[in-house]
Amino acid sequence: MSAKPLPWNKIVLVLGIAVVLLLAGIFGYSLNRSFTVVDEVSGGKALVGGPFQLVNQDGAAVTEKDYLGQNLLVYFGFTYCPDVCPTELAKIGAAVDMLPADANVTPVFITIDPERDGVEEVKTYAESFHPKMVGLTGSLEQIKAAAKTYRVYFAKNSGSGTSDYLMDHSSIIYFMDAKGGYQAHFTIESTPEEIASKVRETL
Ligand code: NI
Repeated sequence: MSAKPLPWNKIVLVLGIAVVLLLAGIFGYSLNRSFTVVDEVSGGKALVGGPFQLVNQDGAAVTEKDYLGQNLLVYFGFTYCPDVCPTELAKIGAAVDMLPADANVTPVFITIDPERDGVEEVKTYAESFHPKMVGLTGSLEQIKAAAKTYRVYFAKNSGSGTSDYLMDHSSIIYFMDAKGGYQAHFTIESTPEEIASKVRETL
């Protein structure tokens, strides 16, 4: 009894079609994504910020509603960061110092490393950059949700050891108005003067 030879020509054809469909799907998805980003930017205000549930530096549960009525300078980072976070948070502190002491602006540090940054850690860290600075932490799920609304990327750096790891994260300072709306953002290129002058326009 001889086995029937496999219909290789048909198998190759089916696999070929599958590959073409898969590539078309990936291409269509990325095309769709880039159009989405363009739409949001051309539509005016970027869709940044939104609801969150976190824990403040005194251990109290807070949401975005607790900060309505205050202009915010929001930065996501982590207290073990060796370079970028301290530089950017010091910049925020310097910008706030250029404004009147009673200016309605609250700097907010949100950790993206809740595993190591608890209530005590974010409190000490935030206060070291400015007495007005709020420190927020939460569960990993809460942090992920908050970072998502601000379009902040973060991930544990797998190249570093397990006990003394670093975090990869986007470094953007968001300026949110008293209604919780996005006003502007600043990068590592921005100066304290630029931040202060933008905030001053809104006060
Ligand atoms: Ni950092």
